[in-house]
Amino acid sequence: MPAPVRKAVFPVAGLGTRFLPATKAIPKEMLTLVDKPLIQYAFEEAAAAGIEEFIFVTGRGKQAMEDHFDLAFELKATLEARGKTAELGQILDFLPDPGSIKYVRQTAALGLGHAIWCARDMIGDEPFAIISPDDLVLSETPCIKQLIDAHAETGGNVVAVEDVPREQTNRYGILDTPNAADRLARIDGLVEKPDPKDAPSTLSIIGRYVLDGEVFEHLARHEKGAGGEIQLTDAMAKLIGHQPFHGLRFEGERFDCGTKTGWLAANIAYSLARPDLAEATRETLARFR
Ligand code: G1P
Repeated sequence: MPAPVRKAVFPVAGLGTRFLPATKAIPKEMLTLVDKPLIQYAFEEAAAAGIEEFIFVTGRGKQAMEDHFDLAFELKATLEARGKTAELGQILDFLPDPGSIKYVRQTAALGLGHAIWCARDMIGDEPFAIISPDDLVLSETPCIKQLIDAHAETGGNVVAVEDVPREQTNRYGILDTPNAADRLARIDGLVEKPDPKDAPSTLSIIGRYVLDGEVFEHLARHEKGAGGEIQLTDAMAKLIGHQPFHGLRFEGERFDCGTKTGWLAANIAYSLARPDLAEATRETLARFR
């Protein structure tokens, strides 16, 4: 039985240049999806999967995120004085247990692998999850829970995967696998952002991972890969052959909220999934046919 997955890392140091000017003064992770910031969905997904420690790899200008997960004392007092019980629940119910959320700064934008490496002392050598708030998965079972359950069966490392059109392989980590069509694909190789003509498959990694702590040994070398960045994919590739490594075709629909159209589609899908908003959303959409 592999060790349980208790900790999750959230890489949230990115500048969010694709959303300028919206992200000039607020972190991109604080962009709203329906009525909650993106980062809250990622946090709640981890909490629902039983994660106990939440590690944010953050950077300059990201304080709004820390405030969001802290007690807003004045707002709480005002809502209490006005008897606004429902609103109180909205600012209190999701708050993490004191001490369970931690922040570490990535002082230079050297790549996703470097961001994850910044969390090494908080993880140690146990298996851990990674959740990128840019990727949202609308699903019955939280996507990271699906990975944790698969990891309990296979041990080693499990990443969430989905098929992409071949012309898009240069945006993702891509699997080399003998059984791409299966729910759990054995990973024989990983390539970061290959040209479509060189891609070993069209099965791509999305922003959900469960990894063995050994990956830090490879990240510590700070080797640069695609785009001159320290790539998580390259460090993961070094584990193949030493440990089980699988790609899980997760159940659910993924939205790339790192792009404007993906974020817009997610707003529509999440509104339609909300009983209190579904009908009004459908009516609004009908006006734009
Ligand atoms: C990162 C990873 C890539 C992965 C992607 C998923 O890329 O490097 O392997 O497929 O996340 O969202 P980024 O989106 O940071 O360029």
